Amino acid sequence: MAFELLCQHPSAACGAPTALDAAACAIREEAPSDANAREALLDDAFGPARFLKTCQRLREGSAPAPGLALVAIDNGGALVGTVRLWPILAGGSAALLLGPVAVAAQYRSLGIGRALIDESLARAAAFGHRAVLLVGDAPYYARFGFARRFAERLTMPGPVERARFLGLELIPGALEGAHGRVVPTARPAIALPQAA
Ligand SMILES: CC(C)(COP(=O)(O)OP(=O)(O)OC[C@H]1O[C@@H](n2cnc3c(N)ncnc32)[C@H](O)[C@@H]1OP(=O)(O)O)[C@@H](O)C(=O)NCCC(=O)NCCS
Repeated sequence: MAFELLCQHPSAACGAPTALDAAACAIREEAPSDANAREALLDDAFGPARFLKTCQRLREGSAPAPGLALVAIDNGGALVGTVRLWPILAGGSAALLLGPVAVAAQYRSLGIGRALIDESLARAAAFGHRAVLLVGDAPYYARFGFARRFAERLTMPGPVERARFLGLELIPGALEGAHGRVVPTARPAIALPQAA
């Protein structure tokens, strides 16, 4: 599924901003061939410190939830935005971890971040997911309904700023009983050689 997002490019003249065709973005599922461009965008947005984040521990060795890795593509075919959601267990309850989300610097404040997150949350709800957690700036994520109170009784598997550890219930009450540690979903067991 892809949809058109009319963006007003920052170079638009003052007064009546012009929607440039260079800024008409489509949001679609990430393809394997997007990986290099997505990683370059994340390097630009976060630098190498991104690999040290506690959230990364929940993503390592895991794959995004099916259908929940999205990219924004400009009309020249360049990847200008990314968001991925990952399966986790939040105090024993199935949930998703959102992030990283990033938009190319010259395309920010055009609504691409909002469109990526809105679309990913709508898909997550349609797929039957119940709740989403993230570590990020509350002033930005509050507009999507993320709030500190939903994650108050949960702990991450490493250091995070508590004020930035937020939750969202896709189904009302989904995080009510969530209590304890956030862990990756179980990975497939390694088949050990059978004793003769
Ligand atoms: C955060 C980010 C993804 C938002 O993407 P975007 O396409 O610029 O977002 P939108 O156009 O939907 O929204 C822009 C609005 O959010 C605000 N905003 C952006 N980052 C914000 C933040 N960290 N805290 C509060 N507000 C923020 C902008 O000021 C802007 O406000 P306005 O609409 O009043 O002008 C983008 O700024 C980005 O890639 N930043 C660097 C990476 C990052 O910090 N990622 C988030 C942490 S995982």
